Amino acid sequence: MTHVDQRRRTLCMQLLGGLAGIVIDGPVMARPSVDEAAKVFRLDGEGVTYAFGVNSEGQLQSMYWGSALSSQDRLPAPVPVPENSSNEMPVTITPFEFPGFGGGLTVEPALKVTFPDGVRDLVLRYVSHQLDKDRIVVRMKDASRAVHVTLTYAMDASTGILARSAVVENRTASWIQLDQLAAASINLPYRDDYRLSYLTGRWGGEFALQTRPIEPGSTVIESRKGVTSHQANPWIAISQAGTEEESGPVWFGALGWSGSWRIHVDMDALGGVRATAGYNPFDFAYRLKPGESLASPVFHAGYSADGFGGASRLFHRYQRERILPGAPQPRLRPILYNSWEATTFAVDEAGQVALAEKAASIGVERFVVDDGWFGARNSDKAGLGDWVVNRQKFPNGLAPLIKRVNALGMEFGLWVEPEMVNPDSDLYRTHPDWVINFQGRPRSEARNQLVLNLARKDVYEHLLTVLDKLLAEHDIAFLKWDHNRAWSEPGWPEAAPGEQQKLYVAYVENLYKLLAELRRRHPKLEIESCASGGGRVDLGIMALTDQVWTSDNTDPFDRLLIQDGFSHAYAPGIMMAWVTDAPNYLNKRVTSLEYRFLSSMQGSLGIGANLNHWREEDFAAAKRLVAEYKAIRSTVQRGNLYRLVSPQRGAARSSTLSVAQDGKQAVLFAFLHSGGRRNPQPGIQLRGLDPKRNYSLRAISGSATAQTPQVASGAYWMGRGIDVVLEGDFQAAAFVLDGA
Ligand code: DGJ
Repeated sequence: MTHVDQRRRTLCMQLLGGLAGIVIDGPVMARPSVDEAAKVFRLDGEGVTYAFGVNSEGQLQSMYWGSALSSQDRLPAPVPVPENSSNEMPVTITPFEFPGFGGGLTVEPALKVTFPDGVRDLVLRYVSHQLDKDRIVVRMKDASRAVHVTLTYAMDASTGILARSAVVENRTASWIQLDQLAAASINLPYRDDYRLSYLTGRWGGEFALQTRPIEPGSTVIESRKGVTSHQANPWIAISQAGTEEESGPVWFGALGWSGSWRIHVDMDALGGVRATAGYNPFDFAYRLKPGESLASPVFHAGYSADGFGGASRLFHRYQRERILPGAPQPRLRPILYNSWEATTFAVDEAGQVALAEKAASIGVERFVVDDGWFGARNSDKAGLGDWVVNRQKFPNGLAPLIKRVNALGMEFGLWVEPEMVNPDSDLYRTHPDWVINFQGRPRSEARNQLVLNLARKDVYEHLLTVLDKLLAEHDIAFLKWDHNRAWSEPGWPEAAPGEQQKLYVAYVENLYKLLAELRRRHPKLEIESCASGGGRVDLGIMALTDQVWTSDNTDPFDRLLIQDGFSHAYAPGIMMAWVTDAPNYLNKRVTSLEYRFLSSMQGSLGIGANLNHWREEDFAAAKRLVAEYKAIRSTVQRGNLYRLVSPQRGAARSSTLSVAQDGKQAVLFAFLHSGGRRNPQPGIQLRGLDPKRNYSLRAISGSATAQTPQVASGAYWMGRGIDVVLEGDFQAAAFVLDGA
């Protein structure tokens, strides 16, 4: 790594490294190796080998990515693909690890540069390499100009997941402009039956799973919104015809970046398939002065031979063991209560105390006051930016409420949306220049708010000061960190000439820095990433936040689909799911309290209902189910997830199973959308149990047929399965299997 690269990378690492429990380098190491004679590099992790090499032209060529090879296997030196026709030169059809735009490249580049003299040709050649613990670092340089690129390949041994990133350094005597920078190009073995899966959505409908064949041409999945976005999530999975939930190859990856991003998947003229993931090149221009560098985000990529289920289990594990705060053993998520759906902006001390007392009575562990506690915030029209307690609502500040919450045995949490400002706020009246804007152009509002330019040093320092003060003056264990609008007019008028577009990167870097610094100063603080629901869920923000708000759609039936999509990419332990009121505020659907609980218990349980409307029997049922959740939460949050019956494509039924890592406990959830007793009730065959161990079956909610044994072997539950009794609309059942 160059010193510049190191400086940028260690900035976050130092901040993160100070946090209790965050592991930068895990204890298990993958094996990086190099065949010096052939110049072939290999990374071997559990079940996976990734190999690339330097070809006769000095180019870095992809060689192999798939199931583990024997350590005895010698891969031959890579050879550029010969010219196919005058229209398909070797540079366009040879699979490169990190192609620069130049030398005739017409497929997607990982890096595109403009030089001051108008040259836009970049031909990257291998210079040197270094093997270090779990990683290979390769240095490349342009054929004639001093543009240096450092590629890092770090493999997690236990999952075989590879973290790839690039740093570009300008060692020329003048500026250069990066027009495009990806973390990596990843090439797949030649085949013509690939399918691409990805996640799209919108507010209230996040994580919709899409699948389409990969054919000649490209598929672009992206956010141009300045934030990760609901519209698409930076995760892909590539499978083959015949790949199923539990069998067949899946190559998958996700970009750790919370700003505008793009994943470009294409098939070239000769059928080569590659994915290029990085900053979104749309409206991107990043000038580097001599000596400056820019690091790409990290692309985390894995391979599983065990279908989509195998892929997501690997990825969940990787997130728990390598990414999340507290890795390799992130803290179990406390059961929280959140006031939003109950009180919206109408929060006050008496009302929140009343809710807190009721929440505590059912076993809630963390009480969170949502929007409305600060400034002149009585609706979404005013107050954002003024992070001072509203004295009409809380005459004695937040301290009495926090004291009461703590006395009830709960932690206290608070909602904030630090990156935003209402024009009707003291902050905006004082600093109208602090928002993202183009000089002399309209400032488009969304939800009556504008986006603060966090790339600015003064904005960063202001937010650090006010949030630090808030946390220092109150016993706050948790912040729900919201971000409720996409960017518009992405200008930074005060930036140096030619540097306005650095906004896209500098903003997110400062966001990460701010989160890391707050956590460093307040080591017990936990944070939830929220963006009008699940608009900012990615592996970048995940390294700095403990959980995510999945969707503002809290309807328990709609959630089954959202949660299923989410689970393809992200760990269920961080997926917050509240039990809210019926009829649901969004779609007016009426479901039973048990159904709502069981849907939420698939992830990290929260309560968001208006407890003032609950009957005595609701409290009794909730108390019982909260206690049940506490007994199974380690399995749900840290276990292996099996999507037994998919809710996709309008299925009437769905079912998931979580199996504890030690195989001693399993939790089954089963849902029926609609149907009667006369409809066939297929038995649900479990997975992942120890076939020899005996497991006793106990219903948390619902029942199995009378013939179902109370105790049977793992082999029985996996072979014969459980006949769950479900009849009628929106029915659910849950079972726990405890191993002897
Ligand atoms: C959007 C979030 O997703 C909601 O849960 C809530 O916090 C509101 N913002 C508050 O304005």
